[in-house]
Amino acid sequence: MARKTVALLSVIPLLGVSFTEARNFVPVVINTWPFTEATSTAWQALEQGKASLDAVEEGCERCEQLQCDGTVGFGGSPDEDGQTTLDAMIMNGTSMEVGAVCDLQDVKEAVLTARLVMQHTHHSMLAGLAAANFAVQMGLTPANLTTDASSRLHADWQANKCQPNFWKNVDPDPSTSCGPYKPNSMQSSVSAMQHTRHQQSKDGAQGVAQAVTTGRPQISRYSHDTISMVALDAQGNVAAASSSNGATHKVPGRVGDACVAGGGAYAETGVGGCGSTGDGDIHLRFLPCFQVVENLRQTHWGVPVHPEAACESAIRRILRVYPEYVGALVAVDSLGRHGAAAHGWNFSYSVRTTEMDKVEVIEIAPLKTHPSPEDDNERLCFAAHCCQSGAADTRNHSPRPSDPSASLLPN
Ligand SMILES: *[C@@H]1O[C@H](CO)[C@@H](O)[C@H](O)[C@H]1NC(C)=O
Ligand SMILES: *[C@@H]1O[C@H](CO)[C@@H](O)[C@H](O)[C@H]1NC(C)=O
Ligand SMILES: *[C@@H]1O[C@H](CO)[C@@H](O)[C@H](O)[C@H]1NC(C)=O
Repeated sequence: MARKTVALLSVIPLLGVSFTEARNFVPVVINTWPFTEATSTAWQALEQGKASLDAVEEGCERCEQLQCDGTVGFGGSPDEDGQTTLDAMIMNGTSMEVGAVCDLQDVKEAVLTARLVMQHTHHSMLAGLAAANFAVQMGLTPANLTTDASSRLHADWQANKCQPNFWKNVDPDPSTSCGPYKPNSMQSSVSAMQHTRHQQSKDGAQGVAQAVTTGRPQISRYSHDTISMVALDAQGNVAAASSSNGATHKVPGRVGDACVAGGGAYAETGVGGCGSTGDGDIHLRFLPCFQVVENLRQTHWGVPVHPEAACESAIRRILRVYPEYVGALVAVDSLGRHGAAAHGWNFSYSVRTTEMDKVEVIEIAPLKTHPSPEDDNERLCFAAHCCQSGAADTRNHSPRPSDPSASLLPN
């Protein structure tokens, strides 16, 4: 496949060079979705010699201004009260500092506020109205995040009996009625809830998966996406950021993964970085971007694990419990290699490297939920970059996993 060939060619000159030996870093910017203006903005920052941290901030900020897909910035994804609230984070992969704002109201510049949290406090995260007060104190201007478009979306949802929504186990029946809701009769007392929790832990993952996958709103690019961006600068510093207005028709107060390190994004200089998009409620349970960076730390047959394999492994861990998971992960490593994996939707990401004369958009087909042993063998082979000429030979001799779920990384 073309995508794999590119990845292969880009790694050949680097084979045998360990992370610590690599001195000349090739700048890269990568972000979720075809938000190419954001990628260009970040790339220009790198070209001007700015740090990767500035690049990801400026890139995500561009998407907030453009209201990318209506899911980033003001005037999108109204909650059940019709309000738009913003989640964002930024991470310096050299110092491991994080700045984040969750449930930000009345201020448009979410990722900038996150940066201000990092720069002017010893904290990592601020939330809600107090976060907005902080932003104003730091010099930002209060703004109305509601637009005519978001008001209309909210009014249409109310007219449609508040469908879809994110409630479960409540009365009246959330699949046919609007709230206000109360815990339903089966679960209304604390002791019943405690019983349910006990039962769920006995049922294990399967019980939880069933509870979660029934009756949830469909996750689509226009209800659940996020800009999540990773950059590597010429000094080798990795930084990541993400910004989102969350899930459309969310329960007020809901916070997503876009403001949580390891959920929305993660970065570690010398290793790599990751960004996510999709079901943020699930991402908050697995912190897949933290796992991707841990995966990138590993080597396979002496070669650092490829970002695509690192992403796939993190998604497979989610799929063991939530086979209907919808989302995607993108990653860059310190060698400048990039890749992504997705499940449940066709995904694309934007990337710019020194080898490209403009931002490129790379399409990613969703992973199969249950890969066959042949698919698994292919993945093992790919991870080791043996799939080009002579690949068949290596593939035939590659250790074949006896269990299809046994992949190159513990997922
Ligand atoms: C990131 O952290 C490193 C290490 O503390 C620091 O030297 C660098 O200035 C930070 N980057 C930015 C852009 O602030
Ligand atoms: C915010 O803008 C919306 C849409 O234009 C408008 O309906 C609403 O009254 C405004 N809210 C405030 C507090 O100005
Ligand atoms: C992805 O795109 C292909 C080709 O357009 C289509 O057949 C497939 O159903 C799509 N998959 C998903 C999960 O949307």
